[in-house]
Amino acid sequence: MPAQGWRGRDVISILDFTREDLCSLFEAAERMKRLLSEGRVSRLLEGKIVALAFFEPSTRTRLSFETAAKRLGAETIGFTGEEAVSVAKGENLADTVRMLDGYADVIVIRHRYEGAALYAAEVAEKPVINAGDGKQHHPTQAMLDLFTVKELFGGIDGLVYGVLGDLRFGRAASSFILGLTFFKPEKVYLISPPLLRTRPEVRVRLEEAGIRYEEVDRLEDVLGELDVLYVTRIQKERFPDPREYEKVRGSYRVTRELLEKHAKPGLRVLHPLPRVDEIAFDVDETGYAAYFIQARNGVPVRMALLSLVLGAEV
Ligand code: CP
Repeated sequence: MPAQGWRGRDVISILDFTREDLCSLFEAAERMKRLLSEGRVSRLLEGKIVALAFFEPSTRTRLSFETAAKRLGAETIGFTGEEAVSVAKGENLADTVRMLDGYADVIVIRHRYEGAALYAAEVAEKPVINAGDGKQHHPTQAMLDLFTVKELFGGIDGLVYGVLGDLRFGRAASSFILGLTFFKPEKVYLISPPLLRTRPEVRVRLEEAGIRYEEVDRLEDVLGELDVLYVTRIQKERFPDPREYEKVRGSYRVTRELLEKHAKPGLRVLHPLPRVDEIAFDVDETGYAAYFIQARNGVPVRMALLSLVLGAEV
């Protein structure tokens, strides 16, 4: 898609896009990655200001957006945590967004409430990019996840995927599964304790897209079939009742031993990070681990995204 088709668009859900949109984003991200690897300097977004409004903590999303902006010559403004802004004095979200809309050219927002980014997009005239809203969506994470799969395997179609962990409260896992519905996976295994099963709207979307999927409890039962294992942590902070969290705490763990016993040699393990204890550190040194490559891809993918949304020729 030419840059014109992306210009000024809000990025709220991965479902706002099409396969063609995503493929054009990936092509732009490949160009950005080449630019970075060659150490070239770009001023593509010189004069632009990117607002980073993080009402919730973040390492990767915030810092990769900031890096992406700066690598292209843009400036950033922003905050992390409600205590850092006048929300702490009682200011509402709409007024905060109106201020950012007046200061910046694009607003990247993370918030603990589902729908906050969509609401911000309704208030703001400038494009709004959802950097995670509660348990609901994390579209830019899904974009970089899919880009990483494409890079590792040469494509996204025809692979067997396992998505392991907190599929109920995990926005990255849900967005990844939703993103897969634009492609043709061979099969998707949804692997979780029964308490953390995939939300109905995500399963409905898989069904509408005609994707073969199966819900299973145990990784060991399907690990040997997988090309991609996407692991997520249990989202402790999103459980309405801490006793429910205690029922599933530590209920799955990917170890080197487990992978060497059951996995295909070509399996690649992804994780949006942060990790807690669901992937043992001894996996990091194996050829299975792709989660740090994935995290680094946040920069070129977000460079491409900012450029397209701001209407710059990529
Ligand atoms: N993957 C991800 O969203 O990480 P952060 O919470 O560190 O941004």
